Amino acid sequence: MKVLVIGSGAREHALITALLADDTVTEVFAAPGNAGIASVVPTYAVSVDDPGVVAVLAADLGVDMVVIGPEGPLVAGVADAVQERGIACFGPSAAAAQLEGSKAFAKRVMAEAGVPTAMAHVCTSLDEVGAALDQFGAPYVVKDDGLAAGKGVVVTSDRAEALAHARTCLARSNDAQVVVEEYLDGEEVSLFAITDGTTVVALQPAQDFKRVGDDDAGPNTGGMGAYSPLPWAPANLVADVTERVLQPMVDAMRRRGTPFAGLLYAGLAMTSRGFRVIEFNARFGDPETQVVLANLRSPLGQLLYAAATGRLADVPALVWQSGYAVTVVIAAQGYPESPRRGGVITGLKQAAECVGVEIFHAGTSITDDGIAASGGRVLSVTAHGETLAHAREHAYAAVDLITLEGSHHRSDIAKRAAQEMEG
Ligand code: AMP
Ligand code: GLY
Repeated sequence: MKVLVIGSGAREHALITALLADDTVTEVFAAPGNAGIASVVPTYAVSVDDPGVVAVLAADLGVDMVVIGPEGPLVAGVADAVQERGIACFGPSAAAAQLEGSKAFAKRVMAEAGVPTAMAHVCTSLDEVGAALDQFGAPYVVKDDGLAAGKGVVVTSDRAEALAHARTCLARSNDAQVVVEEYLDGEEVSLFAITDGTTVVALQPAQDFKRVGDDDAGPNTGGMGAYSPLPWAPANLVADVTERVLQPMVDAMRRRGTPFAGLLYAGLAMTSRGFRVIEFNARFGDPETQVVLANLRSPLGQLLYAAATGRLADVPALVWQSGYAVTVVIAAQGYPESPRRGGVITGLKQAAECVGVEIFHAGTSITDDGIAASGGRVLSVTAHGETLAHAREHAYAAVDLITLEGSHHRSDIAKRAAQEMEG
């Protein structure tokens, strides 16, 4: 089987690494990729948000399946265009990707499916926003309805700041909407499910670290690190969320005539009143994918192909390696506000030789001086260990060997969970 992977992040580098480990996958291509991806497979610098361009590339390469990493191409209809060419695609149609593309739509389907989530109001005017803020009280949660590359959500106790965010979102277009919702406290969990539109296969849960600094200080980012599985999670968590969230959502989408096939990502808050859905994404999460796939032993190509062709029910139960995986993101100076591009990275080779370590590239490119930073999140340093403490030690030993002037990373990824496990 030949596979084309769409995207340019560490998530796609991890997907490609896992696909190459599947004996039935003979060739992998990527578009647009990054420096790390280009060191393992051929890459094509095309505009991946353009459905026609991706469909033509897939046909020219003669691939059997396209795997779409990021939300942009999904919402733009790349999966639809690929399938129209008769090529299998792992990733939902544009209509189904609205579960991520519109928070108001996701809330409607959750209500239909009876899925536990935060109470919310969809608002189209500042007056409505003000009333909703007062109804729920502080801390306030205001969300841009559409895709906003991680910048759409403001959580604040400052009512003026909440209103200001709503004003910015509503000013974007005449039919702009914002979602104001009840604040959810508790640990966050990312749970991914592979689905063909009918059958649902959940993966192991992961936790992402969204804030830029240690102890959750500073602004939200795309994700600064992750670990999986979660030693503290209740034993029935995956079964419960599958039964009460993932399967009902997949059934509701099928009943609506827009079946969701691909990866359904449930972002959950473990509140004192039980779990609640914070959001859905229509794709693998980044950086959680790096740690989830590090533990998966089942062949990924066969799993994704079965989902893309409606045959997931035939796939044997997934096999997981024992132990834990931790990933630490190395970010460029100034990330997330204004990342500095162009710094040269050294120590990659030595770091990759550390036990149990894999280095996935995100914002990197090849320059005359060597591999350089070309994006905010630059590398995702991933390690496996029999305990979380070991996985952390391996990951941070590798991080310490890498230099990029001005770069930063969190030093507390999985720290608390590892201490509780030892404790
Ligand atoms: P989202 O884009 O919906 O995932 O939101 C980004 C982040 O904002 C989440 O990972 C949470 O940390 C936070 N957040 C979103 N919704 C809520 C909520 N209702 N209560 C508390 N925090 C939230
Ligand atoms: N790690 C969060 C996301 O992928 O949206």
